[in-house]
Amino acid sequence: MSGSRISSSASKIEGDECMLSQAENQLLTRAGPGTLMGELFRRFWLPALQLWELPEPDCPPVRFRILGEDLVAFRDSEGRVAFLRENCPHRGASLFFGRNEESGLRCVYHGWKFDVSGACVDMPSEPAESNFKAKVRAAVYPGVEHGGLIWIYMGPPEKQPPLPHYHWCIQPKSETLRVYKWMQESNWVQGLEGNIDTAHIGFLHRTLDQMGAQRIPGNFNAPRLQLIETEFGFVYGGRRDRPEGDYYWRLTPFVLPTFTSIPNPVWGGGGLFVIPRDDTTSWWFTISEPMPAYATTPYVDLIPGTWRQTRNRENDYMIDREMQRTYNYSGMVTNRVQDAAVTESMGAVYDRTREHLGTSDLAIIFMRRYLLRLARQLQEGIEPRVLSDPRLFLVRPVHIYTEEADLRPIWERDHAEHLRQPVAVPAG
Ligand code: FES
Ligand SMILES: [Fe+2]
Repeated sequence: MSGSRISSSASKIEGDECMLSQAENQLLTRAGPGTLMGELFRRFWLPALQLWELPEPDCPPVRFRILGEDLVAFRDSEGRVAFLRENCPHRGASLFFGRNEESGLRCVYHGWKFDVSGACVDMPSEPAESNFKAKVRAAVYPGVEHGGLIWIYMGPPEKQPPLPHYHWCIQPKSETLRVYKWMQESNWVQGLEGNIDTAHIGFLHRTLDQMGAQRIPGNFNAPRLQLIETEFGFVYGGRRDRPEGDYYWRLTPFVLPTFTSIPNPVWGGGGLFVIPRDDTTSWWFTISEPMPAYATTPYVDLIPGTWRQTRNRENDYMIDREMQRTYNYSGMVTNRVQDAAVTESMGAVYDRTREHLGTSDLAIIFMRRYLLRLARQLQEGIEPRVLSDPRLFLVRPVHIYTEEADLRPIWERDHAEHLRQPVAVPAG
């Protein structure tokens, strides 16, 4: 374990150096082609599609936007997956309308056909003796199944890393997990910040009788935060005092590029990704155990045929003021709706020069600086360390009652124990 430790002493984190300038905010939030952060994302395998979106060979293709690019994913006759740029290289018709036939996707405008490598394998609009088709390639990104999802790699082919060993991808019983996907209608950083913001669970997700989703009364005290930089990203812990005289610790690992595994004592495991769709919308992927028996609402409720939550900003997330008066702080149902309401309400891309950051924002402050640092280093030719070994992605969250006041021994003990546990054979 390498790196530094940061505590949330007020003197260390208050002040202008924590704030992002307008220029830094733009660098952090923009992830389209050619941007600093976009290039960092393009070094990683990114979650993209649920398996049911491309269920079988030669099934219909699907549209998919990610990192500001419009793509069409298809599964060929051999079951291989690829993501083609949506516009046909001939004259730009959408390949979404393409016919998925023997080992390739055929544009329906003039019949050019492309395989999963992007090669043009048929060009019926040109004379038979022409070799023009050998000179044309579709822009393509590889796709692969791994851990119950379809992933995409959008970086330079020579830099393509092995598939990451996120814990749910390689551990026994991973097939029992559920994958949820939906779209957030704001820049990706806002959603991600909520996943490293332990202080909000004591309000946003809390019921008035103090039995919120986490069902741990100790959650509701102001946490003292500590953070350790690691090879995979960082881990931060929130320490809360308990009447018993010890502490309740919640440790959340942040694994590059944006995976967070949030402790949940009731039905723990899994984690969340927030991935830029474009600069003003983002994808959420949650990997969870099946909903517990006491759950009365679906994990995430989408408008059929869309990735949009039924409760969204156009209907004020169906806030119920009577519920807010008598039952919970937000007046909204489910963590997913509550999180979306607060982070989308900041606007499409929040102007972070207007913030007032406190001690409980430590992990958010660190994450922004950290990602900017890694993106700048990449520009100088320094690759993220985690990409050198897929096993570095293997982490789990921790929740524990202990008299230990320091984050590091708790994390190192649990992480060592985790790494000793058996893993299933990785998918790739
Ligand atoms: S635009 Fe696709 S074949 Fe002509
Ligand atoms: Fe939340």
